[in-house]
Formats: sequence, structure tokens, C-alpha cells
Amino acid sequence: MTNHPIKVTKTTQSSLSSVDFSDIPFGKVFSDHMFVVDFDGKEWKNAEIKPLQHLSIHPGNLAWHYGQSIFEGMKATKLADGTPALFRPEMHAKRINASAARMCMAEIPEDLFLQAVEMMVSLESAWIPPAEGSALYIRPLMFATDEFIGVRPSTLYKFIIFTMPVGPYYPKPVSLLAEEHFIRAAYGGVGEAKAAGNYAASLYPAKLAKEKGYDQVLWLDARESKYIQEVGTMNIFFVIGDKLITPITDGTILKGITRDSLIQIAKRKGLFVEERLISIDEVVNAHEDGSLKEVFGAGTAAVISTVSKIGYRGKDYVLDHENYKIGPMLKAEINGIRSGRVEDSYDWVKKIAPSLVGV
Ligand code: COI
Repeated sequence: MTNHPIKVTKTTQSSLSSVDFSDIPFGKVFSDHMFVVDFDGKEWKNAEIKPLQHLSIHPGNLAWHYGQSIFEGMKATKLADGTPALFRPEMHAKRINASAARMCMAEIPEDLFLQAVEMMVSLESAWIPPAEGSALYIRPLMFATDEFIGVRPSTLYKFIIFTMPVGPYYPKPVSLLAEEHFIRAAYGGVGEAKAAGNYAASLYPAKLAKEKGYDQVLWLDARESKYIQEVGTMNIFFVIGDKLITPITDGTILKGITRDSLIQIAKRKGLFVEERLISIDEVVNAHEDGSLKEVFGAGTAAVISTVSKIGYRGKDYVLDHENYKIGPMLKAEINGIRSGRVEDSYDWVKKIAPSLVGV
């Protein structure tokens, strides 16, 4: 780990004792500290870890008006001997900079990103829930901070990391509505960036889908309303016959790190994996001829989330989700690697020393 100067002020009032790790709603419980660093137009300065607190921000803050705001989602778990561990952190460092480049924002040095994440996990290690499938969710976030009204890239940025103990994002199987009217991302757009606006744009169609009784939208491509993209909260996988199929990353979908990990695990397990265009018609036909065996989503928050049905053009395609085999096998494998129960032959798990942050 390189040593960027990071000032540390520890809290004197931890709220850890008030948390029940056996019942943690996703996204509502926050750990004690945050990391903050500012970009001054030339370099990142004044890096510090301090007690989690509100920010004081000018109403003309550029990010709020013109949307330069990006984030990551990562997880820390504990290995059997209690050592905190991160999962493929360098992939997240690269991905936030890919998002920054697309949104015309400052990039953060990967070694600073990684050092800050590691120090936060070390400091908050008591906040990592012990149960397999639970984790400390890490939210790195960057946004524009120029006080200026006008459409141009900001010169100033703030980068923050805060963390949350979490259980499953989707505690139950999810139902999806294949959406033909609204789109999430077009070719050449920003669908691949982990940009706040992508999630905002999904809210209204998701609300309509919920009113019709579905949990989320299954996004189709913007040109033909035909090819499946992702769910918005996770990438999507199909088991058709003996093949595991997932949409190709063509610039419109998030390059999921869980997605990539599952592809690698599945290939090593000897499964036939295809990353390609997959149309909603192919999925419907496979359901009708009985070859559609499984549908599941994959993401850092979602891990692997079972899909119970897909709605399309007024018809529901119900899945025999209680008899899925490949999704549960992949989930056990990825959770097992994260908890140290399964050998990490991929070198994905990065152990974190519990004492990176001095007293
Ligand atoms: C993640 O999977 O980490 C995400 O950021 C997705 C979000 C729906 C929580």
C-alpha cells in the first residue's frame, strides 16, 4: 500500500453497539467514519478520515444541477479467522475512473482510492457482519463541487467513502417487467458509467412496473426494444439448455465485477458461457419450449438474486426458481470465496490488516 498522507480523527461515540447484525436493512445503517478528499483543479488534497457527518454545500453546487456524480459499490467480509477482506478492490478503482472519464470528471489515483478503502475497512472492521451473505458495503462517491450555474465540467470535486453493514439487497426472489416504452441506455450514452443519473432515470419506469406488481424493470435496447440489457440494479444471466448466457458489455450496461467473477467461476466449473446479444424473444421461446432453466441477477449489492418471473407484452413467464441449480451453486462459490470457505484460486480476495489505522 502506498502512503498518501491521510489524517485520521476517530469517533468518540461509536454507534456500533446499537446495531443488530441479525437484522440489517440494506442502506439504512451507517458505520462511524467517512473518508473525504478534495480535488482543487490540479490535485487531490486534504485527505482525511473523520467521524461520519453532514456536509455543508452551496446551493449552486454543480453536481446537483448538471449531474456530475458517480459512485462505486464494494463489499468487505471477514474470513474464518476474522481477517477483514476486500473483493477485487482494484477493479472498483479502475471502474470509478472509467465512470469519471465518461462524465468528464477528475480521476482519482488508484493507489489513493485503494489506500483509503483499505484504511476505512481496517478502521471499521468491527462493523463487518459475521454471517455469510452479509457484508460491510462500501460506497465510494465522487461529485462536482464548483459553485457555478452553467453547463460545463466542474473544476473542483469531492471524493468520499462511507460504509454500511448490510444483509441481502433482495431478500426474496424478484419479478421483472421487460420494458418496451422507456429505455435505460442507448448506444453511445452513459449506460456503462456508474453515474447517479442512470439510477434516477430508472425510477419512474420502475415505479410503473411496481404498480403492475413487478419488483423491477428488465431493460431492453434503445434501438429495437429487443435485446436484453440489465436490470438497473444488477446484471442478468439466463440458463438456456446447458448454456449460461449473459448480455455482452456493449457500452450500454454496467461492467459488473460480480458479473465478470461469475463468468470466470462458471467457465472454470466447465459450464458453457456465452456473452452475447440475447433477445427477449429468445427468452420467451426458451420458456415456451422448456429450455429456459434459470434467470438470475448479479451485482455487488444483489450478489446473485433469483428471478421468479418475467412479464412481457401482457403475459407472465413464471420460472421454476425453487429448483435452480446453477445460480445457487455460483452464489455459494462467490460467497464462499469471500468468506474464505472456498479457496481463492483467482487471487480476488485482498486481506486487510486490522491495524492499518493507528490509535
Ligand atoms: C451495487 O450493486 O453495488 C450497486 O451499486 C447497485 C445499487 C442498486 C445498490
